[in-house]
Amino acid sequence: MALAVLSQAEPRLIAEQYYLYKMFGLFRNKKTEPTDLSFLSTDMHSHLLPALDDGAEDIEQSVQLITEMRALGYRKLICTPHVMADMYRNTPASISEAHAKLEKRLADNGPADIEIAYAAEYMLDEGFTLNRNNHSLLKLTGNYLLIEMSYLAESPFLHNEIFELSLSGYQPVLAHPERYNFYHNDYAVYRKLCDAGCLLQVNLLSFTGYYGPAVKNIATRLLKDKLITLAGSDVHHMKHIAALKTLSRTSVWTELKNYPFLNHSWL
Ligand SMILES: [Fe+2]
Repeated sequence: MALAVLSQAEPRLIAEQYYLYKMFGLFRNKKTEPTDLSFLSTDMHSHLLPALDDGAEDIEQSVQLITEMRALGYRKLICTPHVMADMYRNTPASISEAHAKLEKRLADNGPADIEIAYAAEYMLDEGFTLNRNNHSLLKLTGNYLLIEMSYLAESPFLHNEIFELSLSGYQPVLAHPERYNFYHNDYAVYRKLCDAGCLLQVNLLSFTGYYGPAVKNIATRLLKDKLITLAGSDVHHMKHIAALKTLSRTSVWTELKNYPFLNHSWL
C-alpha cells in the first residue's frame, strides 16, 4: 500500500521505490539455496566426451564441464554422444576411444571421486535399425537404451523400434519427450508411450525455462503426473551449466528433490 502511494510521488521517490524493490529481490535471492543435485547421484544424459558431437569441443572443455558437474553434486556421469546417420556417425569404438583419452587426462589432472561412464544417444533413423540388427548399441546401464527423435516430427520408426527393442531385451528410454513440440497438443501420447514400454527421461533444464515456456509447462505436467522415470542434464556447454545452477529457484525444486527418479540407483 505504502509503495503504491509512493509511485504517485515525485521521480526521486519513485527511484527510491525501484531501489527498494531491487534490494528486496536481492535479499530474496540470497535466501535461495544453491542447486545441489547430489540427490540424483548419476547423470545419465550428457555430451561431455571431447570432439564427438555438438558437445565438448576438446578435452579441456570436457574437464571444465566435468568439474562443474562434480561441484553440482554428481558422482557419476554417463556420457551419451549423439549417434545420427546423417551427422554424427559415432560407433562404440570411436566413443570408447574418446572416453579412454578423457579418463587418462582426468587421471593426470582432473576432479577425483567422479565416475565417467559412456553410452550413446541414438537418433531413431534408418541407421539405428542397422545398429540394432548388428548388436552394436551401447546401453546406459543394465538393458537401458537412450533414444531420441528429431524436434520436427515423430520418427516413423518410433513405435516399431519400441516393440523391437523390447523384444530384443532392451529397455528403451526416450530422451527429453517434453521437447518434442509436435506432442504438445496431444498430451495423451506420453502415457501411451509409457504403456507401450518406453520410459521417459526429462531434461532438468526444461524446468528452468531454458527451452521456452511451452517445454517448461509440459515437463512440469509430466512431473506432476509421475510419467517421468529418469532426469538428465543433457549438458553440452557452459551455458547449460549456468542454467542448471538456477534449478533451485524454480517452483518445482522441492518436488524434484522428492521425486523417485531412478538415477540414484545407477551409482
Ligand atoms: Fe542429448
